[in-house]
Amino acid sequence: MITLPHHVEFLSDAWLEEARTFLEHEVARRMEKLGDKPFSVSERFTHAPPHLKSPGGVVSWSLRYDGQTMTVARDFNADADLVVEGDYQAALTMAQFVGLLAPGAQEAMFREAGTVFGKDAVRVRGSLQNDAVSEMLLLLHDHMGRRTVENPDLAHRADRQGLSARIREMEEKGYTIIERAISPQFADEVRAATLRALLPHQSFSMNWMLYHGREFEQLIQNPLLMTLVDASLGRGAVIASFSSIRKGPGAGVIPIHTDYAHVPEPYPEFAMTGVGVWALEDWRTESGPTWIVPGSHKMRRAPRPGEGHNAAVPIEMPKGSVVYFTHGVWHWQGDRSEPGDRVTLHAHFNRGILRSLEPKKTDVQMLHRNAPRLGEMLGEDDWFDKMSAAGRDYVRFGYMNKLHAFTEKQKRLILEGTS
Ligand SMILES: [Fe+2]
Repeated sequence: MITLPHHVEFLSDAWLEEARTFLEHEVARRMEKLGDKPFSVSERFTHAPPHLKSPGGVVSWSLRYDGQTMTVARDFNADADLVVEGDYQAALTMAQFVGLLAPGAQEAMFREAGTVFGKDAVRVRGSLQNDAVSEMLLLLHDHMGRRTVENPDLAHRADRQGLSARIREMEEKGYTIIERAISPQFADEVRAATLRALLPHQSFSMNWMLYHGREFEQLIQNPLLMTLVDASLGRGAVIASFSSIRKGPGAGVIPIHTDYAHVPEPYPEFAMTGVGVWALEDWRTESGPTWIVPGSHKMRRAPRPGEGHNAAVPIEMPKGSVVYFTHGVWHWQGDRSEPGDRVTLHAHFNRGILRSLEPKKTDVQMLHRNAPRLGEMLGEDDWFDKMSAAGRDYVRFGYMNKLHAFTEKQKRLILEGTS
């Protein structure tokens, strides 16, 4: 396993041990509420990543309470009161969702995982009759969620998410589109939250959107966009800026450019920065979408005056989609002929070795209500800015080195593949 000591991989031995410790502790202090009626839960998932070395790629676990004692085991119990089955990557996406006691949170978790993997990717049967038991298990989910890392096998993850071809396209054209990466309902929620955040004096654009509500914390960790970010910038990529733009009818106001400010030419062969732009309404040419010059990143330089416009394409995509462009590809903001506002979120990431535009404001409550993925993009998992009187943070250095190497190796497999 490749994790920091305080993190775990979903359904690894360390994950199971952490779940056991949590449950033993919670059962002891909730004995009275739990009562003496036995209950049991079991989960089984297929297509686990090969490095977990589970027989046939199937991983499972179960818990049993006999009225006094909690037992946690590796075996699958098909007769448990509550049985959860499905695809490992879909279940891992749900496992990273923290805050299940909040109103509507469980429904949102199933809805967003269903949007990506199909509504039957994770199936639940049976139920638990005691509210105290349900509450304890939701708290277990959160406890594990804030420790559970994304699948580090980029090739396996991209395959299960259906993104392998998108990654090859990203390298070839400098951008790719993931259609309907979030549900229309979530897109509406993010749009409303953005308009709520935009103050009268910030009517056009606002930065630091991460700090404007739960919707933004969840959007920026979108697991599909994260796979593109990992593939282009490597693990440990950090938020450069997270901005919103509200754009009404009229000519575009951002002319053709690359996102490589102050980078000497020729640009490096590896990508240094990438931006995911979220469409919160349907994007047509009339909407004033982003325009991109496909393949222009291969020039490894900024456009010269008057250059590039003839070869550009408008990014048309339905509400809830994201376009991710990287590698210094040429792009600009289109003219809008439709009435109304185009409201967008721009998640701009930098390779982890680079500085950002937004200073990182690490909020311990925010880290507590999210999976480790959020901490990673705030620089929590690498050794930068960690030096103490005792010296360098070699634990984080070693961890990130291994993660970079594994990610690079698996990216090569994706680029060589055809699936
Ligand atoms: Fe840009």
